[in-house]
Amino acid sequence: MLSTDQCSHIRTFIIPHGLKLLLQTQKSRTITIVVRVQKSDAAFFKEGFHKAKGILQHNHYRTIFNGITYKRTVPSRDFYIHQWNWDSATHAMGLVHLDPARAVDELRALISGQWKNGLIPQIIFNPGETKYFPGPQFWGTEKFRKGEILSSGITQPPLLGISAEHVFKTATSQHIAVKHGEEILSGVLKYHDYLKTTRDPEDSGLLTVVHPWESGTDNSARWDKLLGKIKIDKIPQGIKEVVDLYRVDNKLKGPAQRPRQEFYYRAMYLIYLFKNLEWDYKKIVKESPFAVKDILFNCLWIRSNEALANMLNALGRKKDAERYQVWAVQGKMALEQTWSNEFKQFCDVDVSDNKQEVIVQPTNSMFAPLLAGIPDQKQLNKILVRLHDRNQFWSEYPVPTMALNSPFFDRSKYWRGPSWPITNLFIIDGLARYPLNKKASQLRKLLVEKTLRMIVKNDFSEYYDPVKGSGLGFGNFSWSAAIFIYLFRKYKVGGLN
Ligand code: DGY
Repeated sequence: MLSTDQCSHIRTFIIPHGLKLLLQTQKSRTITIVVRVQKSDAAFFKEGFHKAKGILQHNHYRTIFNGITYKRTVPSRDFYIHQWNWDSATHAMGLVHLDPARAVDELRALISGQWKNGLIPQIIFNPGETKYFPGPQFWGTEKFRKGEILSSGITQPPLLGISAEHVFKTATSQHIAVKHGEEILSGVLKYHDYLKTTRDPEDSGLLTVVHPWESGTDNSARWDKLLGKIKIDKIPQGIKEVVDLYRVDNKLKGPAQRPRQEFYYRAMYLIYLFKNLEWDYKKIVKESPFAVKDILFNCLWIRSNEALANMLNALGRKKDAERYQVWAVQGKMALEQTWSNEFKQFCDVDVSDNKQEVIVQPTNSMFAPLLAGIPDQKQLNKILVRLHDRNQFWSEYPVPTMALNSPFFDRSKYWRGPSWPITNLFIIDGLARYPLNKKASQLRKLLVEKTLRMIVKNDFSEYYDPVKGSGLGFGNFSWSAAIFIYLFRKYKVGGLN
């Protein structure tokens, strides 16, 4: 690649971005030179912002349930054409900077699917959309439907409280936020009450996740041993046939980028077990072969409780706020116990079959405790060394889901290696909790820059090759667009630089 200076002896050009020029050399051989003039930062980010807006517009979806119009954003029109719990929480965090009314719509639509017992499901289905597997017919959740609203039966990482806090903080003066604030807040409080009661019956401070889809990091190597207990030949043939017949994600996208078929057999087997337990979580938490105190899920839980306490305090509801503050503190104390001096990380705990077995895998979930302000200075320094290590997590396009030097690292397979904007967001916001630590501030700035550029340069993909930066999974992805807007506003133009 030549700079304009280097070729100025040939001719002087005003060269647009990325233009291919054919130049005649003096010996009249034709050579192709790609000349790139670095676009100005402002133009680059402006274009990114414009694209992000376009994607969120394109993925806007309107549906009428029980006579009420709901507007939500689907993650991707190419496959994920329903509403997902933690995706929508993320969408709202970006949308509020474009159109606060849409952010509020997003949260209202999500809460519309809340079960009577308080569960906010992983998926609220859009009627008539058949692209996604497993669609509504595979869950056996009909008796929990709210009129026309049908959902899956599990949940997802509880980002909702954090999202609601961000939306209401950003949209304070907006009439729309005032109008629907109470409705959204009471939905989220009920969801937290549900999570605490059903997922922490032993009052340990940490919630139990019963399905890899609930963890959000589906096929992470953290779950290999746990899932491996479900022997494929013990799974009823009918379940495997359903997966073989109806699974499409690996046909729409290269199978190398998607979970293996065995993962789907096991995932659907768990759904079958839960259906047979009639979605009774008292039983499910005890009996599920997959039961884990997941650090990522629990750090979001802790941080979300803090967010709810903040909102309640701001409304003068001090007594209510205490309840969530206590859960945040209790969660922190329990999570601190999962620190391993030997492995220099916080660890997940397998709690299936009444056991308490630590899971040690070098995945980027080990950075989630930053978001809850858990690591002390010593732990922080150890964690930052791992984050900034070129052999572990500081790839060209960080932060990979799996350490580069792990035998399980796979740069293109879903949650087994690629970098994801959502986990980068958690790490960035986590590092921001340590403003006095120079290294944390330096890495935060670098990561903001790298994440924003990775997203824009690679078409707002679902996830990214951590070495090359190329986009993986489905394209025009809503949460990548929303995260771009959120990070850009918060860290580039909003102040913290
Ligand atoms: C999927 O289908 O890939 C999702 O992660 C489930 O929520």
